[in-house]
Amino acid sequence: MIINLSDQNSLVCNWMSELRDRDIQSDQMRFRRNLERIGEVAAYEISKKLVWENKEVETPLGIANCKVLQSQPVLATILRAGLGMHNGLLNYFDKGENAFIGAYRKHQENGSFEIKLDYMSCPAIKDKVVIISDPMIATGASLVKVIQSLKQEGEIKELHIVCAIACTVGLEYVLRAYPKATIWCGDIDDELTAKGYIVPGLGDAGDLAFGQKIQS
Ligand code: URA
Repeated sequence: MIINLSDQNSLVCNWMSELRDRDIQSDQMRFRRNLERIGEVAAYEISKKLVWENKEVETPLGIANCKVLQSQPVLATILRAGLGMHNGLLNYFDKGENAFIGAYRKHQENGSFEIKLDYMSCPAIKDKVVIISDPMIATGASLVKVIQSLKQEGEIKELHIVCAIACTVGLEYVLRAYPKATIWCGDIDDELTAKGYIVPGLGDAGDLAFGQKIQS
């Protein structure tokens, strides 16, 4: 299932416009914070789909019937661009567990690239709800590879993916591999360049959040 958070008028539309705007996006702190805010809203929306249980809570004046999350999700993200959204998800799922995976594009002489994974730190994920954040779903190849390697650690109960911008081909690719996943998008664009950049997109999310890197 795909949910485009910009389909309804909300503050997400405002933050998306700031992420995309070449004048505003040069403010790294605002760029990171806008990614974080979209992560926070996605966390709130996802929380409505999770399993809740009743709990009696003792207040200073009596007993209140409350609802609490039955279990905590695992929040996974792809380094380094995912860190802002991950922080937003963690602000709301403050007792969530955390997984980090390093992924990068290894470019060939002919301009093509393959996805390489390196660093991984992951809690037990068997039968857990996993929420993966990746600000840009371009081809979807890195996301599919990351989910494959997470699934080697255990079968996931429910998979949510959170992104700022997804490209339609990337969404199709991810859903072909994981048809039961729910993908929460800040917005959806149709075009992808030969170099794997989303158009109009926003540019390089990692560089905009943390500065340019010297590796190609
Ligand atoms: N990653 C980015 O940061 N931007 C894109 O447009 C595609 C992938």
